[in-house]
Amino acid sequence: MESRGLLLVGIVVLGFAGFAASLPTGDTIREVTDDALSNGSVEQFAHALIGAEKRFESFMKDFGKVYHSVEEYEHRFGVFKSNLLKALKHQALDPTASHGVTMFSDLTEEEFTSKYLGLKRPSVLSSAPQAPPLPTEDLPPNFDWREKGAVGPVKDQGGCGSCWAFSTTGAVEGAHFLNSGKLVSLSEQQLVDCDHQCDREEADACDAGCNGGFMTNAYQYVEAAGGLELESDYPYEGRDGKCKFDSNKVAVKVSNFTNIPVDEDQVAAYLIKSGPLAIGINAEFMQTYIAGVSCPIFCNKRNLDHGVLLVGYAERGFAPARLAYKPYWIIKNSWGPNWGDNGYYKICRGHGECGLNTMVSAVSASVDA
Ligand SMILES: *[C@@H]1O[C@H](CO)[C@@H](O)[C@H](O)[C@H]1NC(C)=O
Ligand SMILES: *[C@@H]1O[C@H](CO)[C@@H](O)[C@H](O)[C@H]1NC(C)=O
Repeated sequence: MESRGLLLVGIVVLGFAGFAASLPTGDTIREVTDDALSNGSVEQFAHALIGAEKRFESFMKDFGKVYHSVEEYEHRFGVFKSNLLKALKHQALDPTASHGVTMFSDLTEEEFTSKYLGLKRPSVLSSAPQAPPLPTEDLPPNFDWREKGAVGPVKDQGGCGSCWAFSTTGAVEGAHFLNSGKLVSLSEQQLVDCDHQCDREEADACDAGCNGGFMTNAYQYVEAAGGLELESDYPYEGRDGKCKFDSNKVAVKVSNFTNIPVDEDQVAAYLIKSGPLAIGINAEFMQTYIAGVSCPIFCNKRNLDHGVLLVGYAERGFAPARLAYKPYWIIKNSWGPNWGDNGYYKICRGHGECGLNTMVSAVSASVDA
């Protein structure tokens, strides 16, 4: 019922999407869109809010949300309504995916950004070498590391800005699989607790636990510390804590890492050569994403705020709203298996969408002898 309601509204909005699509480039679209939707959005989109309270109640039930006072309820309901409008706007700007109510629908943008993202631009950047170009003539049309056993189950960072740690462990787990044929689950909590070492003066200058971090800095930490422990030996808590790293329990070591060129064919070639790749992305459209191939008409390529794991790509993803097939990337996220497409995000390939090609790194692992 809920999705039918959104569908109806979606149809109204599609007219607007067509309008936006016929506009020129980038920033213009953003401006016009924001304007059109914010100015008089209450009138224009009032119908979006019909039945909002009923929808809010079922949202609370679906996601086990409990609010402890009337004030809190009213506040969250207000946020929920503005997120319904945001989902509408995203649907208009990203018609090949479905956007709507998700587990994040009662969070303000600030709460969502600080708790569920966590890619920060550190003041001190590790100096990863740039990888040389690879041949790209013979890339297979479809490729998926999940089918080859290099990708573990989707994990959940919880309300901690530790995406960067999950992106890092995902890449190291994959590199270890390529190296040993064995898939293990590695510890994000070790990174959250212990990876503060690149600047002795200012512990949070580089990676800062639940306050964000950066994947190549994390590789550097793992290399220096001597390796990563298993998830089972150093389990995830989702909050900052004291470092409990035990060098006797190292399961996987990192030997070297590189930055990958921005060309998306190079990214594909390195994905196949090096295993799943840690990437940065602008997560703007992910808060409301439900399914489909995300291909936003405008998504700021410079505002990278989320670390995720690129695991594959496919040639043809059917995009119902455009009645067309789109090639897409397959991205493993760290918001649990109930978010998005079973925990994954599909985003179209070949347009540098949301900056996904601008912060890509590969890592090599070695088994601890
Ligand atoms: C916003 O809406 C008001 C009332 O509908 C209208 O008078 C005004 O011109 C609009 N402003 C813009 C920038 O569209
Ligand atoms: C690490 O170094 C080895 C040997 O030089 C090289 O083959 C491999 O591609 C490198 N790995 C990465 C991720 O750069």
